[in-house]
Amino acid sequence: MEVFINGIRLHYVQTGQGSLTLLFVHGYPLDHTLWQPQVDKMSDIARVVALDLRGFGQTDAPEAVYTMEAHADDLAALFDTLQIERAIVCGLSMGGYIALAFWRKYAARVRGLILVDTRAGADSPTARQGRLDMVEQVKQHGAGPAADAMLPRLLCESTRRSRPDVVEFAHAMMLRQSPTGIIGAQLGMAERPDSTPTLSTITVPTLLVFGAEDIITPVEPEGKSMAAAIPHARLVIIPNAGHLSNLEQPEAFEVAVREFAATNFTNGHE
Ligand code: MLT
Repeated sequence: MEVFINGIRLHYVQTGQGSLTLLFVHGYPLDHTLWQPQVDKMSDIARVVALDLRGFGQTDAPEAVYTMEAHADDLAALFDTLQIERAIVCGLSMGGYIALAFWRKYAARVRGLILVDTRAGADSPTARQGRLDMVEQVKQHGAGPAADAMLPRLLCESTRRSRPDVVEFAHAMMLRQSPTGIIGAQLGMAERPDSTPTLSTITVPTLLVFGAEDIITPVEPEGKSMAAAIPHARLVIIPNAGHLSNLEQPEAFEVAVREFAATNFTNGHE
């Protein structure tokens, strides 16, 4: 399915129904298929929407700096078009940065937050420089360098050893992203603000999910410090998972989301 919003054609998939909406926001350099294990399975508890962010998947990739605020504006426009008043926003890594920007700008439209393998802080000068270097590489060589740099760090050791299907799925997802989109996202993440002061303002139920072996956004310190700073947060650590915990351990991820939803929300079928 696609909508025209904020000057771009934006692609999304949708399953389920009811007044409870679960919006899935992927990380970098990925697309909505990251949530393939969840989209159909979770449709019994909510209306489920998973989008391709600007620059990724089948959504247009304009030449621009994709700020977290621009992504948040896209989410709000998608809500308007699909007549979603409020949703649980579930974002992984860059998707988590976007979920926090969405909370800052559109808090009234957030029913709950699920922040997966992400961080609140802005980039260090070294991390920012790394992004600018990557932009130069992608300009010269396409998506390959971005995919190759991420792959060994994305998945935990046991996934890499015993789940070649997951390794191949993640690698192929990264390789098919457009260089323009990758560049726009890197430049946008490089200039994202520090969301740490935002954490104490969160008043909705919040679930934090971290792969125990995530080395990109490690549970210590990222997960634990976010759990301490967000007033109503619960932290779930998933064993045998790295940065893509929902893809590496879909059953454990599903249990965490189902428990969070059952504890905090009901889905009135309207
Ligand atoms: C992601 O998975 O979205 C990225 O690791 C985020 C980042 O580059 O900071």
